[in-house]
Amino acid sequence: RRILVLHGPNLNLLGTREPEIYGHLTLADIDAKLKVVALGAGVTLECFQSNHEGDLVSRIQAARGEGVNFIVINPAAYTHTSVAIRDALAAVAIPFVEVHLSNVHAREAFRHHSYLSDIAVGVVCGLGAYGYEAALEFALRRLGSKQ
Ligand code: DQA
Repeated sequence: RRILVLHGPNLNLLGTREPEIYGHLTLADIDAKLKVVALGAGVTLECFQSNHEGDLVSRIQAARGEGVNFIVINPAAYTHTSVAIRDALAAVAIPFVEVHLSNVHAREAFRHHSYLSDIAVGVVCGLGAYGYEAALEFALRRLGSKQ
């Protein structure tokens, strides 16, 4: 079983980027923790970050051929702008959870709308880096790969 974790633009700066909003963990810290959990569950987990919309679209398209069973995605700013990422996720029809570190609903109005939420299995926001872990635990449960 395969799980793909996608991180959108500027998330490569985690740790130094507005830490009062996004926390002090780096993206490498977050990915390492997720890999440990996946390893323990016997699941293959790949993490991919890009600042480019088209690269994220291409990564999502490739996931179907790779047999990815579930996607955890923090689309970052593309959440609020990208019909292309929405269409890619709809096209591959791989179930996904949308994750945001911050509570987007407690922030600027332009962050309240997501192009993905209505086609997501679920949405996690405001729980910081733990939100990724929660989404992964959900995916593992759903894939039936936990003992
Ligand atoms: C974010 C929230 C988005 O509004 C923002 O553009 C990000 C990160 C979050 O994880 O809280 O880059 O997705």
